[in-house]
Amino acid sequence: MSTDGEHTHDHTAAGGSAEEVPQDPTAFWESHYGDGPVWSGRVNAVLADTASGLMPGSVLDLGCGEGGDVLWLAQNGWTAVGVDISQAAIIRARAAAEAAGLGEGRAAFVRDDLGVLGEKNRPKLLKGPFDLVTASFFQSPVALDRQHILRHAAELVAPGGHLLVTSHAAPPAWAAEQMKMGEDHQHGPADFPSPEDELATLALDAQTWETVRAEVATRDVTAPDGTPAQLDDTIVLMRRRGIPTADVR
Ligand SMILES: C[S@@+](CC[C@H](N)C(=O)[O-])C[C@H]1O[C@@H](n2cnc3c(N)ncnc32)[C@H](O)[C@@H]1O
Repeated sequence: MSTDGEHTHDHTAAGGSAEEVPQDPTAFWESHYGDGPVWSGRVNAVLADTASGLMPGSVLDLGCGEGGDVLWLAQNGWTAVGVDISQAAIIRARAAAEAAGLGEGRAAFVRDDLGVLGEKNRPKLLKGPFDLVTASFFQSPVALDRQHILRHAAELVAPGGHLLVTSHAAPPAWAAEQMKMGEDHQHGPADFPSPEDELATLALDAQTWETVRAEVATRDVTAPDGTPAQLDDTIVLMRRRGIPTADVR
């Protein structure tokens, strides 16, 4: 996947009543993925551009969904692990990796709720350290302690490694209209962080971390009705200061 924020079907367009939408995060995401593929299957452009400029190593993808970013990374020399709360998404991701001939040593997937993972119950695959930790559109209309999860994930980045957080900076025009009409019960303004919001959420120590990129970028997409549209992404790329282990002799 991904996704590039493009859905094969779009829950922002569902327009169902609030009562029909499960509020428990596991139930919400399980139902989101339950009916069949959700995302386009393509790698997120920001991730591909960023990772292409880095020396491939180990990478962790937070909220990997159906695994499009993990697959691309594994196919481009990275040892990739994806984690997601949805079992349906993870099953789909594993099937896609198998179909692409990628064994678990190159593309592995873990079903877990990142919000409840501590040191003790963290599976070995998620312990790190990682040369890159990435989170593409790790945003949720139901409960998600992003700050706790992202700050903990930053601790898993190896010296000289990177943390990339790409988020929707604004709702898509087609969903914004529904929000105004009160038909979209799943998004609110707090769901769309600016670069400054993301930096404040991460609150990383400047002595340990260098901000490589913190900006909004606009990209062209196709709206669900087939018309051309644009989406704004907030992109934050941080580098942990230090010398990558591979370079220490
Ligand atoms: C908007 S989707 C983005 C998926 C994917 N990264 C992409 O770019 O298409 C957010 C993802 O975060 C996952 N997620 C939400 N809460 C989570 C949690 N507490 N732990 C792990 N994954 C979670 C969802 O299941 C979903 O796949």
